[in-house]
Amino acid sequence: MTRTRCDRTAAWQQLQQKFDRSGATLDLRDALARDPGRVPHFSQQAPHVFADLSKNLVDAETEQMLFALARETGLETYRDAMFAGERINNTEDRAVKHWLLRAPRHAADPDSVAVHETLDAMLRYADRVRADAAITDVVNIGIGGSDLGPQMAVAALESFAAADKRLHFVSNIDGHELAAVLRRVRPHSTLFLVASKTFTTLETMTNARSARAWFEAQGGTDIARHFAALTTNVEAARQFGITTTFGFWDWVGGRYSLWSAIGLPVAIAVGADGFRELLVGAHAMDEHFRTEPLQRNLPARLGLLDVWYRNFHGFTSRSIAPYHSALRRLPAYLQQLEMESNGKGVDAQGQPLAFGTSPVLWGEPGTNGQHAYFQMLHQGTDRVPVEFIAVRQPAHALDGHHALLLANAIAQSQALMQGKADAGGHRNFPGNRPSTFFVLDELRPASLGALLALYEHRVFTSGAVWGIDSFDQWGVELGKVLAGEIAKRLGSGSVEGLDASSAALVQRLRGV
Ligand code: F6P
Repeated sequence: MTRTRCDRTAAWQQLQQKFDRSGATLDLRDALARDPGRVPHFSQQAPHVFADLSKNLVDAETEQMLFALARETGLETYRDAMFAGERINNTEDRAVKHWLLRAPRHAADPDSVAVHETLDAMLRYADRVRADAAITDVVNIGIGGSDLGPQMAVAALESFAAADKRLHFVSNIDGHELAAVLRRVRPHSTLFLVASKTFTTLETMTNARSARAWFEAQGGTDIARHFAALTTNVEAARQFGITTTFGFWDWVGGRYSLWSAIGLPVAIAVGADGFRELLVGAHAMDEHFRTEPLQRNLPARLGLLDVWYRNFHGFTSRSIAPYHSALRRLPAYLQQLEMESNGKGVDAQGQPLAFGTSPVLWGEPGTNGQHAYFQMLHQGTDRVPVEFIAVRQPAHALDGHHALLLANAIAQSQALMQGKADAGGHRNFPGNRPSTFFVLDELRPASLGALLALYEHRVFTSGAVWGIDSFDQWGVELGKVLAGEIAKRLGSGSVEGLDASSAALVQRLRGV
């Protein structure tokens, strides 16, 4: 399909003119005071997620221009192509169908039938593991999308999790991580899940081999019972000696794979019903994104706002502030989702881009961040849009805490926007700093699923407008190749032909 790049549209020029005319100087305090319709206009309920966008540096006219930009760049056609199963990941010639993993079964679609067969088998297995009192520890070995999603979701849903299973996540090739987990588990009561889309990733295969060696050295014998693989490469898993495998497909990107067999740790934690609820919540957001007009389409509105901020305001980062400690791994998960998807310098045809793409995403749960880096958000020289995520109902019964937590979330977004004038300089808060405020009624599988799908489609939207392939990740390849070469040099000590800095580092780390 042909795509029109954003910087070749009339809307792009209009947005630049609008920014120069009034966009750069929009004052949130004035805008909120002057227009009683601003909050209703810039707020909306999407499935399981309420969003208040009214404290963003945008007005209705700009938003109309952003919708025009979306139309000119073919966002809706591109979205429909994804949902039609077209090979929109053009650099890898693959379809992009993670949404199918959470759609109800379609008997006429062989992919859907295969998805549900695997899902049913995996959930039966998860419930068997849950019922197996002899298994007390589950160790997920995987990295990137085969780690961040399940790790984040298991933490997010901790109040729904089985109390008698400890879940561990080992991702890093740094042996300290695996060694620390192995010190805490016993072979006869541990299940290792080797999670890797490709089943070739250096970190995961190294950790998996060491885990198997440890298991055998400790007298473990029943690999079929104590090891399972989650992969598209079932043959490689079999060669590794793992016979219990749950597969998925090349049209599921690693960072979009939480909904596939990669979600098995989540299913073990919360059970089959909980996992199905996660899928149902995500599917509701898929339908919202697929069918709502742009003006009421929350992922599209957010993705377009991201373009406005990145390309016209020139903001280079965005901070994620989940005001719920169970969402502590969400910023790390979103880093991969957004930065690996949209951190591209060329368009889908390989032509260099003359504009910025993915911002840096970062953040920590509130209120912790307030006592660390919020200083910079309030008074630093850069403006960083902040994203607050608050949950109305707590999952604990401790008195007083939750109201104070929520009060802090609202107060921070208010302080960023409102500021405070003070002649003394150091006590001056410039204000007019943008934020978005999300509210979930409750943090449960359905709302988590919807929130994550919201982010996926938002990333899709900005990537579509930028004209890039959001579903490849060629940028990770060079380092992998060079690491292989350096590993040999660390062994042999040869630094011939190496640049002077890397050669000196090889020698220093060899202790020469
Ligand atoms: O190196 C990047 C990457 O390919 C990610 O996209 C992916 O999530 C991760 O590595 C792990 O890959 P795999 O699941 O194939 O082990």
